[in-house]
Amino acid sequence: MERLMNITPIKQKSDRTSDINFLNESNVRKIQSFHASFPMYQETPLISLSNLAKDLNIRGLYVKDESFRFGLNAFKVLGGSYAAGRYIAQKLQVEISELPFNKLTSNAVRKQLGKITFVTATDGNHGRGVAWTARQLQQKAVIYMPKGTKPERLLNIKKEGAESYILNRCYDDAVRYAQQQSLEQGWVLMQDTMLHNYHEIPQWIMEGYGTMALEIYRQMPVRPTHIFLQSGVGSMAGAVTAFFSNMYRGNEKPIVVVVEPENAACIFLTAQMADGKLHAATGNLDTIMAGLACGEPCSLAWDILESYADFALICDDDVSTTGMRLLAKPRIGDTRIVSGESGAVTTGVVAKLLSNENGYASLKEALRLDKDSVILCISTEGATDSENYEKVTGQIP
Ligand SMILES: Cc1ncc(COP(=O)(O)O)c(C=O)c1O
Repeated sequence: MERLMNITPIKQKSDRTSDINFLNESNVRKIQSFHASFPMYQETPLISLSNLAKDLNIRGLYVKDESFRFGLNAFKVLGGSYAAGRYIAQKLQVEISELPFNKLTSNAVRKQLGKITFVTATDGNHGRGVAWTARQLQQKAVIYMPKGTKPERLLNIKKEGAESYILNRCYDDAVRYAQQQSLEQGWVLMQDTMLHNYHEIPQWIMEGYGTMALEIYRQMPVRPTHIFLQSGVGSMAGAVTAFFSNMYRGNEKPIVVVVEPENAACIFLTAQMADGKLHAATGNLDTIMAGLACGEPCSLAWDILESYADFALICDDDVSTTGMRLLAKPRIGDTRIVSGESGAVTTGVVAKLLSNENGYASLKEALRLDKDSVILCISTEGATDSENYEKVTGQIP
């Protein structure tokens, strides 16, 4: 057996109490309409890797390619932009449906609002989305990044006109620092995870991810039997799980597998402990999957995952690089997908689980993967660290 890939079942609450209505079809349609009012909005492609699926002996493998999202190389902007829209709608006491992009970004709205500074902590993609949103709104953004952040990711945020700093702190401490700054400076915290007394904006951010989920639902030619979702704090996985659990119920509900790096496995740990409490990953969260290097789970995301997801899976960085290479050099006839470390890991997991060489037969059986499986993965980012992308794949993104 190769090095680490391990699963733990998520012991689902028998009463399924989590409220997932906020991501039901009708709400998500409204959220998608908000994003569709952006001039740069286009559905990102859903790629059928049919030749790889054939080799892996499954019915289908579909990968959503988020590298095309608003030219920002990741899905994350969907959350920050929608939350900013909701925040402004609340301030102006109007419905979000009354604030399409041209109105939201108008001088009239800016004058009504006055000067706002948005602040957040980020591994890269979320902060880039918040910085981009602030620029569209002609407002200010201050973005904090954890130690070890690659200069390219910092630069991409600065290019959006935001003030951005790499702190000598891990991700979770950077989040606390951003919250403290927001309180001291009167800035608006745009954090993609729930904190003490801070729930509204993280929920709006999760709602924003609903646009991606609805696109997938519309693009999939068949119902997925399995959805593999990578997780940092779990907000994206929670949002997509909530939406698909609203769309498919009972036996129809796809099996949801939440994927994390072994060194930042807060969802896995929380699932494994199964004691009703959240558990943080400790240590230095060392992984090439920067977007997933988060130690503390989002409480709302966990509530959803605990009720509706099926398994948590941990893996090492080799699984991610396997995914990057597979997507960079696809089977003949399949489409190439440029996918970064956090984006490619789920495809890497699927390929490793299903290629018979790796001795993962018991995991495959536990996950009920077989020749009838139709698997959905989301490549949540493109090459956000070009140097590493080139090193891993031998290709220029
Ligand atoms: C590319 C990418 N994928 C997945 C995630 C995970 O999202 P979440 O933190 O909501 O679990 C992130 C988070 O930053 C990310 O940047």
